[in-house]
Amino acid sequence: MDSNIRIPKHIGIIMDGNGRWAKKRFLPRNAGHKKGAEVFQDITRYCNELGLESVTFYAFSTENWKRPEEEVNGIMSLLKEYLIKAFDYEKENNRVLFLGDKSAFSGELLDLMNDIETKTADRDGMTLNIALNYGGRDEIVNATKEIAKNVRSGKIRIEDINEKMLSDNMYTKGQPDPDFILRPSGEKRLSNFLLWQSAYAEFIYMDVLWPDFTRKDLDEAILEFNRRNRRFGGV
Ligand code: FPP
Repeated sequence: MDSNIRIPKHIGIIMDGNGRWAKKRFLPRNAGHKKGAEVFQDITRYCNELGLESVTFYAFSTENWKRPEEEVNGIMSLLKEYLIKAFDYEKENNRVLFLGDKSAFSGELLDLMNDIETKTADRDGMTLNIALNYGGRDEIVNATKEIAKNVRSGKIRIEDINEKMLSDNMYTKGQPDPDFILRPSGEKRLSNFLLWQSAYAEFIYMDVLWPDFTRKDLDEAILEFNRRNRRFGGV
């Protein structure tokens, strides 16, 4: 990529269009998720090569449990498969974090999630955030509860509550806010993704379906981000 191009610090990606990709090919929806998981791996590697500090993928929302059981199970086994393989990626040096309410998970999947977070915690490369059972509103509610507990116990005063404190109680604590949110598949919604963190994010929508998404598409998105003029409320 051209050296004049500003590489974002953090990109949020909504991996959308897996179902439509499969439908177009008369395949089951899970075939779309399988191809989507492959793209997720390749784009993660590319974000690393580009030198991003953080990338966040929306893998499963708090609302996605409403999908048919077969589809939910399919997504969970893909995740398991990825997490088992992920341990081989020692050389990639990513710190891996799961953003979301982990209390919905148990057994092998939860063990894998905890293990991978612990084993990668001290890595100094890119932070790979995988949003799982994640909801932006849910995250804000949880942060509020944590802060309220600290007020009740006398650790902090109400006057101490500020934006930084809220940020520090989000799953993304210590990470830069996303520079842009990328949503492929033509949909133009935020869908409860990184609500607090996206206050100043650019939104980039692309027509390509996630399973067809390539490194070149990410280059396009970064170029589009560079064309936008960010003023953060100033002039
Ligand atoms: C949205 O497309 C996609 C999902 C809800 C699941 C995303 C999951 C994966 C890519 C696989 C597992 C993830 C990892 C990290 C290995 P959709 O099904 O809503 O597509 P549609 O709008 O075309 O129906």
